[in-house]
Amino acid sequence: MTTVRDVQEMAGDEQIAMLTAYDAATAALVEGAGVDMILVGDSVGNAVLGYEDTLPVTVDEIASRVGAVARGTDDALVVADMPFLSIGADEAESVKNCGRMLKEEGANAVKLESGPHTVELTERLDDLGIPVMAHLGLTPQSVNQTGYAQQATDREEATEILELARAHEDAGAFALVLEHVPANLGAQVTEALDIPTIGIGAGGDCDGQVLVFTDVVGLAESSPPFAEQFGDVRSEVRSAVGDYVDAVESGEFPGEQHADTAEDLEDLY
Ligand code: KIV
Repeated sequence: MTTVRDVQEMAGDEQIAMLTAYDAATAALVEGAGVDMILVGDSVGNAVLGYEDTLPVTVDEIASRVGAVARGTDDALVVADMPFLSIGADEAESVKNCGRMLKEEGANAVKLESGPHTVELTERLDDLGIPVMAHLGLTPQSVNQTGYAQQATDREEATEILELARAHEDAGAFALVLEHVPANLGAQVTEALDIPTIGIGAGGDCDGQVLVFTDVVGLAESSPPFAEQFGDVRSEVRSAVGDYVDAVESGEFPGEQHADTAEDLEDLY
């Protein structure tokens, strides 16, 4: 089993590969392909559940997906992404929601979209044995305030991110996701921290990278500019399902090999 310490030891020596997954079958495939950490992202909202954005995703929805991913995984570190308003409003409720992901669903860590309001919570969770991955830069749960634009493009905002990154490291975060920030900020935050940085649209100097599964395999209808498509699963699915429909309509499927016959069933009526 991969631990947060293993992930921390990788930083600087080898690049850390993280990818999202939202079900057991995909988690097994993703792990088999060699990812180190699987993020059960609240991106499940737009990638899978048909929501416009991540805001409607509930704790129950994430919990169910985390359970499935943990069951499909042997070795990769499973990180549960805490959905909008599941943390932050009330400390006891936040701890309960995060704890549920480890205690009931089998996650190894939680990710919090971070800001000044998550520093104390990170410390509390870490004290309780709940490893925290922080997340700064573009935090999609703040879409109503920031949109999906690149963040920290001026010195003031970049300095704020650097300070928040340090504050979360001091509070005990074991890693930091940096999303959609200039590459030269990604490099400086990585240099400034001992904990690994995991970039998504933050340049190649981070200690690792994360992307959304549906973007990587070419299943998403559209992808952000910093994503890369490494396969064309949409075309594969279209072609396989089209062949199935044709075979059903033409009577080619099912063939004799797809069902057995039983003896003594002739002339039932
Ligand atoms: O929800 C998610 O998939 C994420 C990653 C994009 C970092 O937060």
